[in-house]
Order: sequence, then structure tokens, then C-alpha cells
Amino acid sequence: MLFLFVGHGIGMLTPHFLYEPFLGAGTKQLLAMVTGGIAGFLAFIGVSLLLHRRLFDARIRATSRTADIVLLVLLWVQLVLGLATIPLSAQHLDGYMMLKLAGWAQHILTFRTGAVELLAEAGWVFKAHMFLGMTLFLVFPFTRLVHVWSGFGTLAYVVRPYQVVRTKRRIVAQAAAQVAAPSAMPQPVPDFEARRPA
Ligand code: HEM
Repeated sequence: MLFLFVGHGIGMLTPHFLYEPFLGAGTKQLLAMVTGGIAGFLAFIGVSLLLHRRLFDARIRATSRTADIVLLVLLWVQLVLGLATIPLSAQHLDGYMMLKLAGWAQHILTFRTGAVELLAEAGWVFKAHMFLGMTLFLVFPFTRLVHVWSGFGTLAYVVRPYQVVRTKRRIVAQAAAQVAAPSAMPQPVPDFEARRPA
């Protein structure tokens, strides 16, 4: 899933002129189809397992909110639509459609007009995939997807100082023992007490 996220980001948002000198549009499309296809297939298996667990494991089902289930269904459908674009893309390997779709994403990101015209020739599978993709952005902050950011946040562990975590168990056990039997706790040493200056 992370590969798809980064791959979509780089693939769709890098302006064509930046990679054109060393990577043709057709080659880039083929690269996206093969690598994205493998990652998409693996993600499809993963999301299917997660969805099955959330729906049919009684304990997980009982602690799931509707939004948790809907989110996984959306991701599952999005993966099916994404994978369904591969055979369609295979029918035009010149990269023409990919450039149009990437252009659409770049227009949206930079608030330029004319984005919708770029989608005019795209089939419904592409359009549905992009519509659902934007819907996922919309539901992002209100669902478990927001945890993606805490996932990236864990990278901070690589550079931040380590934490020393001490258990409080011994202190709590001592306090409990003192309450139960005060005489069992260490008593003052008489000799030491006698010699202590007033
Ligand atoms: C707004 C968000 C998204 C947009 C605009 C978008 C757009 C696209 C486009 C244009 C393609 C076809 C690439 C080509 O053949 O030239 C594609 C493919 C694909 N997408 Fe997305 N997508 C989005 C979100 C997602 C998400 C969230 C997932 C996963 C859950 C996903 C999974 C896939 C897969 C598996 C493919 C097929 C392999 C590939 O070409 O990379 N997409 N997407």
C-alpha cells in the first residue's frame, strides 16, 4: 500500500519534462503497470484478509465502528478498480492516456483550470478510480486512515534519543506490602538511630 502511495505520488505528480530525457512516457506507463500491478495485487490480498477478519472475527467485529468497515470496503473497491485499469492501459502502451491522467492530477494540485477536459477520453473505470481516490482523501481525517501519519511518525525513532522506561511494578508491590504488614518493612537500625546527631 505504501509503495502504491509513493508510486502514485511520484508517478502522477512529476512533470513530464523532468523525466522525458531519460524515460519515455510508454516506458513509464509500463513501469507503473508492472510495479503497481504487483504492489496492487499484494495489497489486494492484504486488504481482503483485513476485511475478512473485521467482518467475521466476532471480537474484532464487536469493537469495529461502521467507519472502520466502510473504509476497508472503499480501499478494497479502489484496489479492484486500480487493478482493472491495467488491462485497459495495456491497450494503449504509448503513455498517451497516462500523461492525460497525470496532467489531471497536476492541474488539481496546482489549482489550474482545464483539469476536467483532460479526463474527457478516459474510460469509466479510470474515472471511478479517481473519484474514489478523491473520496478517500475526503474521509482520511475521519477514519483510521489518519494513523498513516503516526506510521510515518515512527521514523522519528531513528533519529531521536532513546527513552529509558522503568517499570513501576516494584514500587507498587512495596507499597502494597507496607499496607498489608507494616512490621514486615525494613525497620530503622537502632544503633544507627542512637548515633545520629540530634
Ligand atoms: C486520488 C487518488 C488516486 C488517483 C488520482 C489514482 C490514479 C490512478 C491512475 C491514473 C492509474 C492508472 C495508471 C496508468 O495505467 O497509467 C492508477 C492505477 C492504480 N491505482 Fe490508483 N489512483 C488513486 C488512488 C489509489 C489508491 C488509494 C489505491 C489503492 C488503494 C490505488 C491503486 C491503484 C492500482 C493498484 C493501480 C494499478 C497499477 C498501477 O498502474 O499503478 N490508487 N491509479
